Amino acid sequence: MKTVWVEGATGKAGKRVTAALAAAGLAVRAASRHPGVPTANVTPVPFDWADESTWAGSVAGADALFLKGLDVLDDAASVIARLIATAPRAEHVVLMSAFGVDKAPAAAPRARVEQAVRESGRNWTILRPNWLMQNFDEDDAVYARAIRDDDELYAGSGTHRAAFVDTRDVADAAVAVLTTDGHHRRGYDLTGPRSLTFAEVAETLSAASGRAIRHVDADLETHRAHFARSGRPDAWVEHMMELFAFVRADVFDGVTGDVRRLTGHAPRSLEDYARSACSCP
Ligand SMILES: NC(=O)c1ccc[n+]([C@@H]2O[C@H](COP(=O)([O-])OP(=O)(O)OC[C@H]3O[C@@H](n4cnc5c(N)ncnc54)[C@H](OP(=O)(O)O)[C@@H]3O)[C@@H](O)[C@H]2O)c1
Repeated sequence: MKTVWVEGATGKAGKRVTAALAAAGLAVRAASRHPGVPTANVTPVPFDWADESTWAGSVAGADALFLKGLDVLDDAASVIARLIATAPRAEHVVLMSAFGVDKAPAAAPRARVEQAVRESGRNWTILRPNWLMQNFDEDDAVYARAIRDDDELYAGSGTHRAAFVDTRDVADAAVAVLTTDGHHRRGYDLTGPRSLTFAEVAETLSAASGRAIRHVDADLETHRAHFARSGRPDAWVEHMMELFAFVRADVFDGVTGDVRRLTGHAPRSLEDYARSACSCP
């Protein structure tokens, strides 16, 4: 049985990738700082990016790696290169990067992470999801707390659009590239079926929940203060501000056919997501 090591296995993407791979019959080593209990085909394993002594034991025996990477570390590319080197048996590395990184300057940190994976000497596949829909109900630091507590969707986006993708489709895409042939040395841009303004997102969440959720499109300093209230490090706050600069530059405004190409099914819509997100307002 093929063994896949999944990093960030308790996160929005990683937990769904773990479940989908296990359901597809692969053995999963589910890596995080908070490993839970084993389930069918899933072995939780301790892993901490900040503690290199945890790496070798965590990746041991893996035939493939699913990495979601590191966002706010200057030397993320070299850290990821060292991690891959720790897993000599892993023939295939799947990186969850982000939509638009292939168009970023080569010196941009995320572009350097992709480069490190391409130069790892392994077979590689890069998945580049657009903004994840599950941010709206699962990521308190970004959107979820303000939506849940105050009916407010904070996004300094103006009327610019993003083609939000359901994380379940990212997981289905990960299963496809890890279980079928033809995906080595390939990148895929994963989007939902429509590009939407954040005001349209607020309308859809309102319709699904019966509440009046409004898009808060304030000035940059208001948004910086909003993200700073999350308690996350300053570097993460600046990372969010950079992402919204990309939103305003229309980096995320593009629908692709890659979810259907990889999974054989249409990408889930925001309406599908809003109906299924049980903790969604
Ligand atoms: N969110 C989006 O809209 C979006 C869109 C496109 C691409 N991406 C990319 O996806 C990645 C984020 O994925 P996500 O949204 O699924 O993540 P997430 O939900 O924020 O999950 C974070 C995961 O990282 C793990 N983690 C945090 N610190 C760690 C550490 N020091 N060592 C080991 N594990 C650690 C956490 O595990 P424990 O706390 O259990 O250790 C958890 O499993 C980012 O690289 C981002 O660029 C995100």
